Amino acid sequence: MCGIMGYAGPRAAAPLLLEGLRRLEYRGYDSAGIAVTNGEIHVRKAEGKIDRLAALLESDPIEGSIGIGHTRWATHGAPSDLNAHPHTDPSGEFVVVHNGIIENYLSLRERLETRGHEFTSETDTEILAHLVAEEYDGDLVAAVRRAVGRAEGAYALVVMTMHEPGKIVAVRRISPLVVGLGDGETFLASDIPAVLEHTRDFLIVEDGELVIVTKDGASIEAIDGGPIDREVLHIEWDAEQAEKGGFDHFMLKEIHEQPVVVTETLAGRLDEDGHAWLEDVEFDDYFASSLDHIWITACGTAYHAGLVGKEIFQRVLRIPTSVEYAHEMRYADPLVRPGSLTVAISQSGETADTLAAARLAKTRGSRLLALTNVVGSTLSRDADDILYTRAGPEIAVASTKAYLAMLIAEYLLALRIGRARGIVDEALAARVAHGLNLLPEHVDAALGQDASVIAAAERIVDADDIYFIGRGLDHAVAMEGSLKLKEVSYLHSEAMPAGELKHGTLALVTAGTPVITVITQGAVYDKTISAVQEVKARGGDVIAVAYEDDREIAKHADMVLRIPRADDLLGPVTAAVPLQLLAYHVARLRGHDIDQPRNLAKSVTVE
Ligand code: G6P
Repeated sequence: MCGIMGYAGPRAAAPLLLEGLRRLEYRGYDSAGIAVTNGEIHVRKAEGKIDRLAALLESDPIEGSIGIGHTRWATHGAPSDLNAHPHTDPSGEFVVVHNGIIENYLSLRERLETRGHEFTSETDTEILAHLVAEEYDGDLVAAVRRAVGRAEGAYALVVMTMHEPGKIVAVRRISPLVVGLGDGETFLASDIPAVLEHTRDFLIVEDGELVIVTKDGASIEAIDGGPIDREVLHIEWDAEQAEKGGFDHFMLKEIHEQPVVVTETLAGRLDEDGHAWLEDVEFDDYFASSLDHIWITACGTAYHAGLVGKEIFQRVLRIPTSVEYAHEMRYADPLVRPGSLTVAISQSGETADTLAAARLAKTRGSRLLALTNVVGSTLSRDADDILYTRAGPEIAVASTKAYLAMLIAEYLLALRIGRARGIVDEALAARVAHGLNLLPEHVDAALGQDASVIAAAERIVDADDIYFIGRGLDHAVAMEGSLKLKEVSYLHSEAMPAGELKHGTLALVTAGTPVITVITQGAVYDKTISAVQEVKARGGDVIAVAYEDDREIAKHADMVLRIPRADDLLGPVTAAVPLQLLAYHVARLRGHDIDQPRNLAKSVTVE
């Protein structure tokens, strides 16, 4: 996720901006840059690590005591010097940095191009510099207001102009922005840790607000106008806690980021009628209508996202779908044929086995779609089509927000293919679109159930073996719940379809054995209840994840973790959240290194 810095004060801005950007490094980035005004605007930026930018500044310094800086995590356009922020308008009089996504950037860009504007980068950000310049008539605040009035999306935007030295104007729409109040100097950042060394007093800029920063302080206004009185927040956290946004671990922070991740992954890609616009998915309707098999290949958590994908594609699209572990598929001489679509899922886009399986599918004539979180990753470069999740960098080894984003992307892909094939009619498309748009709220509500999850964690923390069951989509989610628990708690756990329990594993269920049951699928509800009863008859301890209005389950389960009622097709997305929290809390009770579990690596780039 991009990082933003700003400084207005008496000191030299460049070193302060650089230092702030270094403190934002943990957010992940692929390029960095700064702009300083001193009569004119000077920009230095470079692909790669901040050290490259620092070297550039050493050989070509800029003086001045007001400036903005940025670390970029690519979304539109690959990592490169040109795509790095800041971006200026063609005259170089206006400069911007930006975090987030401008949903209507293509149409804005086309309109600007018809008016003769030329662009030097592939970013959505550069458009904002042009828009502000076009709107400027002597008042930067008014120009920014008008410019953002034309831009849709979730973002934080920071702007300077040489015509109004001493002033930085910023706007927040969803993406975070804070102001640090120093003594005769003011900071702007996307995160508190970037400036914690200089001040402990902050103004949090809220959604829909605009802030005007000078060395003497900051004033906040609503984007639509009208002053806002914001109380100063005094921060007691230390630097390490601050990086984690006040959470004790990155895993927990990332779990809590999920409502925003869902919003961002959907942003600009779905209309109310369920039409999905997937910017880098380039196959045409003919291909979508004629494809006869979908192959999904992935490892680990991404494979579990693939299990959900398989259920959705078969249930909604009625296309035969195989989901294969990449390390198996690459050696299995798979029956991949032309006319099929291979969806390779990988958070990093660098997992060696996934790359190999994806390349194999391609050599056999399949069209290759990369579903990945990293722009410009090897997988995305190998693919014919790319569907980026927008989870931002995931730091905890155990994947959470990237998983949820993968599920969202799969629903979007199903809508894209399903509408082209005519199998998803308007009613179904609108229903799924409605459900998807409700998800951020639902995930947020699930996060609010932390107290019951902690109680469940206390119940299972000393168990020797734990089982996860569910049917259909619930089984797919149960698989991921079990993996999460294993990864961070080191407890033995296993997931299986609920109907499989009696074919062997039931022999292991005795008094007190925890069996976590995911039960959101109406069509097989009674069948899952039968499995619960089998467990209860052996004295097992059933913890269910169920809809909040499901009264029946309480008669059978020992404990119920509640999630908001949703369309059954989408319920499992929210059901994953209590399972992630459960894994986290068990690991915490057991005192483990949650963000860096033993023996595991975030990205497995060797076979
Ligand atoms: C490693 C990580 C897992 C991840 C898997 C696949 O095993 O620890 O969290 O799910 O790799 O990674 P990818 O980047 O391909 O999604």
